[in-house]
Amino acid sequence: MAYDRQFAQIKKDLETCGQSHLLRFWDDLDATGRAALTEQIRDLDLGRISDWVERLVKNAPQAPVQRLDFEPAPAYEPEPRDDTQKRKYFEAMELGKKLISEGRVAGFVVAGGQGTRLGFEGPKGCFEISPVRNKPLFQVFAETIAAVSRRYGSVCPWYVMTSPLNHGPTVEFFRSRDFFGLGRENVVIFQQGTLPNFDFEGHILLDDKGSIARSPDGHGGSIKALCRSGALDDMKRRGVEYLSYWQVDNPLVNLFDPLFIGLHVLDGAEMSSKAVIKNDPEEKVGNFCLIDGKVTVIEYSDLPRELARKRNADGSLVFHLGSIAIHIINTAFVERLNGESCSLPLHRAIKKIAHVDAQGNHVEPEDVNGVKLESFIFDAVPMAKHSIILEIVRAEQFAPTKNATGTDSAESTRAMMVERAARWLERAGVSVPRRPDGTPGCLIEIAPGFALDPQELASKREQIPPIRPGDRVYLAQPIADCGFRIVDYQDRRVP
Ligand code: UD1
Repeated sequence: MAYDRQFAQIKKDLETCGQSHLLRFWDDLDATGRAALTEQIRDLDLGRISDWVERLVKNAPQAPVQRLDFEPAPAYEPEPRDDTQKRKYFEAMELGKKLISEGRVAGFVVAGGQGTRLGFEGPKGCFEISPVRNKPLFQVFAETIAAVSRRYGSVCPWYVMTSPLNHGPTVEFFRSRDFFGLGRENVVIFQQGTLPNFDFEGHILLDDKGSIARSPDGHGGSIKALCRSGALDDMKRRGVEYLSYWQVDNPLVNLFDPLFIGLHVLDGAEMSSKAVIKNDPEEKVGNFCLIDGKVTVIEYSDLPRELARKRNADGSLVFHLGSIAIHIINTAFVERLNGESCSLPLHRAIKKIAHVDAQGNHVEPEDVNGVKLESFIFDAVPMAKHSIILEIVRAEQFAPTKNATGTDSAESTRAMMVERAARWLERAGVSVPRRPDGTPGCLIEIAPGFALDPQELASKREQIPPIRPGDRVYLAQPIADCGFRIVDYQDRRVP
């Protein structure tokens, strides 16, 4: 009886928002199928559906960026400009080191995306990227975290956000490699939420008679997921106050950068970002702008072309700072956004969406047939009371693997990893063979446990063998003394 009442209520709610077709196959479902569908419908934010349909599904927002009166955002440069700034950078560096060593900073990677463009089956973090040992992205990050923990004598916990698309395989990947020796308790893997998919008329699609077609709610979903999953509570228990946020596709990321953390905290920021100078006006990165005095990221696809191409008198781009999706986020800020039920804006993406039609037939569309919605983490930046930007040198910290070939591909990432290693070696006085075009004539990989930066590499100068043309050089060192049981999991898999 109670169940009938519940069903009647759900039916009524669905009618109110024009989605009653979701119950079209109700009579075909058994008790388990009905309960599962009811649960999924309850999970939908029914109160908001009609608004989304009108604003984002049936009608594309006219111009995502309505105003043109914004300015470029200011940033700290990679090197201090003068003596005053030199002192500030030094102070920030010391503060950052202290916060890391006190265990107040945690790593946070968003890894819930599909990696469609790369054409890799499986979680992108499992993609083998390192140039000599073919270490997967997750392993590169794990070894970096272990090396940072050793350097600062603290445990740096790592939070990994997945989605229903890849949660199981991600957990299995970590489990089968014994969490890379970091300790199961120090690697927290949790799932982001989902949002329903719509056809162009605004009807939510079913991907089976008793199942709603849904997609991950975007990396912006991390704000809610951190709270809902209990990750935020876990951070509180550990005394973590700052999240070092990065995307799974960038193996050059400087995790736990003391300068970045220190500048962020010294300036009283709630969420801060790293930036690079854009390669060209329309490079596919977010643009840092200042709107009403607030740092704001405008995605490349939303920045009007005339602004993207606008130049200063000296020929440089006016909007020259590109986002590399690396942030420091205060846990208190995440808590505040959740407490104030702040929702990040939703963005629409037109996609091919597999579904069942009104007759119950499965359809794999050949052309786009609907809309997926997602939120972006960088939309939280202007919600911060204060936000800073640190410009970094691209070749040192940003080499994303996004595409199967060409720009931002595995090939370009590996080339940048080798080039950075060659530069660090040359700076340490090691001679590296180079081809006539200047590129390294050998493959080099420096394990994070061997050196995290050029200074550490230079301190191990005497351990580095001579390098000859055509060599495949892997610089590593057993790091059993780091407090973690890190080994090279290329060779050793946990059964
Ligand atoms: C992104 C940024 C862009 C930035 C660039 C830098 C967006 C829309 N744009 O582009 O501003 O300049 O990176 O490299 O993000 N993810 C989730 N859950 C999701 C969707 C994505 O965790 O629901 C994760 C992915 O696993 C990945 C990251 O978010 O780690 C980026 O996602 P992706 O869709 O690849 O963003 P890009 O378009 O490459």
